[in-house]
Amino acid sequence: MISEKIATLINEQIANEQYAAQYYLSMSAWFSSKDLDGIANYFRVQSKEELMHADKMFDYLNDVGGEIIIGEIAKPPHQFENAIDIFQKALDHERIVTKSIFNIVKNANDEGDFATTSFLQWFINEQVEEEASASQLVTKIKMVSDNPSAVYLFDQELAQRIFVADPTA
Ligand code: FEO
Repeated sequence: MISEKIATLINEQIANEQYAAQYYLSMSAWFSSKDLDGIANYFRVQSKEELMHADKMFDYLNDVGGEIIIGEIAKPPHQFENAIDIFQKALDHERIVTKSIFNIVKNANDEGDFATTSFLQWFINEQVEEEASASQLVTKIKMVSDNPSAVYLFDQELAQRIFVADPTA
């Protein structure tokens, strides 16, 4: 049986993941409005992944007998300076999520809640990948942003991303 404290942290993280989904959807909408549909697709897929993360936590909390309490989701920003600003904000947000997950792991570890630390290992690995790819995209958008032909190719590259559902989710 999970403690109330860890259940609360996971409930908060479910809301954080859902907020991230909304945030990325807002970023996707910005790129759609600029007719950069490939980049918009990238953020749309990212949004779906965040909902999948929330679902995984929802199911885990249910499995361990924690009370699921759906939290309020804040309205994400919808105005951005430019494409670089968006990619940088996406990276900043992933770093916040990583810290938040580490905090749950630390608390679970302190309690000897090894079921939760084991469950969250997947998220720790996921955050390493998410930060690495977000950081790489910041570098790339900075490289191409002044060159319309390069932006066109970058948009084509990100159009290739597809959502792959996690079989364990
Ligand atoms: Fe669910 Fe992008 O972290």
